[in-house]
Amino acid sequence: KILILDFGSQVTQLIARRVREARVYCEVHPCDVSDEWLRDYARGGSLKGVILSGSHASVYENTTDKAPQAVFGLGLPVLGICYGMQTMAHQLGGKVEGGHKREFGAAAVRAHGHTALLKDIADFSTPEGHGMLNVWMSHGDKVTELPPGFKRMASSDGCPIAAMADEERRFYAVQFHPEVTHTPQGKALLERFVLGICGARPDWVMREHIAEAVEQIRQQVGDEEVILGLSGGVDSSVAAALIQRAIGARLTCVFVDHGLLRLNEGDAVMDMFVGQLHAKVIRVDASELFLGRLAGVSDPEQKRKIIGGLFVDVFKAEAAKLKAGGAGHKGASFLAQGTIYPDVIESGGAKSKKAASIKSHHNVGGLPEQLGLKLLEPLRDLFKDEVRELGVALGLPPGMVYRHPFPGPGLGVRILGEVKKEYAELLRRADAIFIEELRNCSDPATGKTWYELTSQAFAVFLPVKSVGVMGDGRTYEHVVALRAVQTSDFMTADWAQLPYDLLKKVSSRIINEVRGINRVTYDLSSKPPATIEWE
Ligand code: XMP
Repeated sequence: KILILDFGSQVTQLIARRVREARVYCEVHPCDVSDEWLRDYARGGSLKGVILSGSHASVYENTTDKAPQAVFGLGLPVLGICYGMQTMAHQLGGKVEGGHKREFGAAAVRAHGHTALLKDIADFSTPEGHGMLNVWMSHGDKVTELPPGFKRMASSDGCPIAAMADEERRFYAVQFHPEVTHTPQGKALLERFVLGICGARPDWVMREHIAEAVEQIRQQVGDEEVILGLSGGVDSSVAAALIQRAIGARLTCVFVDHGLLRLNEGDAVMDMFVGQLHAKVIRVDASELFLGRLAGVSDPEQKRKIIGGLFVDVFKAEAAKLKAGGAGHKGASFLAQGTIYPDVIESGGAKSKKAASIKSHHNVGGLPEQLGLKLLEPLRDLFKDEVRELGVALGLPPGMVYRHPFPGPGLGVRILGEVKKEYAELLRRADAIFIEELRNCSDPATGKTWYELTSQAFAVFLPVKSVGVMGDGRTYEHVVALRAVQTSDFMTADWAQLPYDLLKKVSSRIINEVRGINRVTYDLSSKPPATIEWE
C-alpha cells in the first residue's frame, strides 16, 4: 500500500483516487502523525511508498506543518507534491522562500534530463530528456535551494526549481499538481511513482476485494444481527448487498418510502433486493405521513428539515423494533451505514483531521449512539468508483449502480414551494420521460448515451400556470423545467448542451403525455451562481 500524508489540500483526495485508479491501495492520514506511528505503520513491509500532499490554500503562507522526519528514514520512496515538495526541501536541508508572486493556473515546465519519474512520460520523450510538460500550478512559496543530494528535475519560467529528485534515495518532488486533470500527464506520473518507483503491485481489484470484505464483516459482526437503512441510492445498496453476502438473513434492511421517490422506484428497490438478492427488507410506506406534514409548507429549508426529521423518526421506530428482537430473533446490535471514503476524509474522521475545517459531513449524524447500536461501515475505505465496481461485482444491475445521484429529500426539493401529491405524480411522469429519452439518445461522436454524458438530469415542477392551446381550447396549466448538468465533483457544474432534437422530443412527449403540463423549459444556469437543484 501507499501512504498519503495530508497537509490539508482540498485535492488530497484526488491523489488518493489517482493511486487507487492505478489499482494500488492507499490511505490518507494527517501529516502530523508521529515518527513512532509511522515506523509502526511501515512495519511488515506492506507499505511501499509515501506521498506528501499539498496544503490548503488559506493556511498556505504561514503553515509550519512538517512531515514526520522518520518519513525520510524508512528507506522507501517519497513523492512530495506542492507544499509536500517544500517541506521535503526544508526538512532535508534545502531552502524555501516565500513572498513571491503567486503562480496559479496552467504552466509549462521543462525537464532537465531523464529521471525515473519523468522518463518516457509522453511530453518528455525527446532524446535529451528536455521536453516540456503542461502542468497545473498553485503556489506562492517555492524551493530556492536544493537539499544536498538532490538535482533539479524540471523548471518553469516562474519557478526555477519546479521539480527535484534524489534518485539514490528515491525522493522525488514536484511543485505542480499531478493529481488534477489539468495536468494531462499527471495520472501517468503518479502511476509511474507508485508502480514503477515504489514497486507496488496493481492488485486492488474490487472483484477480489469481496472475499476480504466479507470476512471482515463476519469477524466484526460475529453472530449478531444488523439493521441497514436502504434508500435505493448506490452507497446503501452496495453496502446492503455486501453485508447480505456476508451474513445473509441476519441483515434486515429498512426502506422508508417517503412518497417522494421517482417513478416506480420503490417497487424497483424491492424487486432487486427481495426478488433478486433475497434480502430481508421492511418497506415502510410513509408517504401519507410525509405529505401530511408537508402540507402548507413552502419554505425550502423548512421542507428539508421536515423530511429529514421525519425520516429519522420513522427509521428509528423501525430500528427500535428490530433491536428489541422477538420471535426467534435476539435483536439487532449493529447499524450499517454506506459511509464511503470521501465522507471519512471530509468529515475529518479517524483518518484525516487536516481537511476537517473544509467541510463537515452530513450523513454520519449520531444515529447509532441514539439507538444504542454499534456502527458497521463496510465501504468506508472505498471511493465512489470503487463502490460502483463492487456493486456490479456483487451482482447489482449496472443501470442501478451507475445511476445519477438523487437527493435525500427526493422530489420534495424538486417541487418548488408546497409539495402536493398531484404535483409529485405529474413530476414523476415528466421526469421518467426525460430520463428515458436521455438513455435512448446517443452522441455519435462518443457513442455514449446522453444519460451517461450528463452527471445529473431531472425535471423540476414549477408551481405556476401558463396559458396554452390544445385543439380548439385554451389551457391553463403547470410548467416543468428540465435540468441537466455536467460536473466532476458537483461543487461546480455546467448546464449540458443537449441536442435540440432530444430536447424537442422530450418536450413534446411531456406535453402530450402528461396532462396538467402545457409548457416545458430548459435550465441554462451553471453552478455557481445557481445550484444544481432548484431548492
Ligand atoms: P446543489 O443543488 O447544492 O447539489 O448544487 C449538489 C449535489 O447534492 C445533491 N443534494 C442533496 N443530496 N440531500 C442529499 O442527499 C440533500 O439535501 C441534497 N441537496 C442537494 C444534489 O442532488 C446534487 O447532486
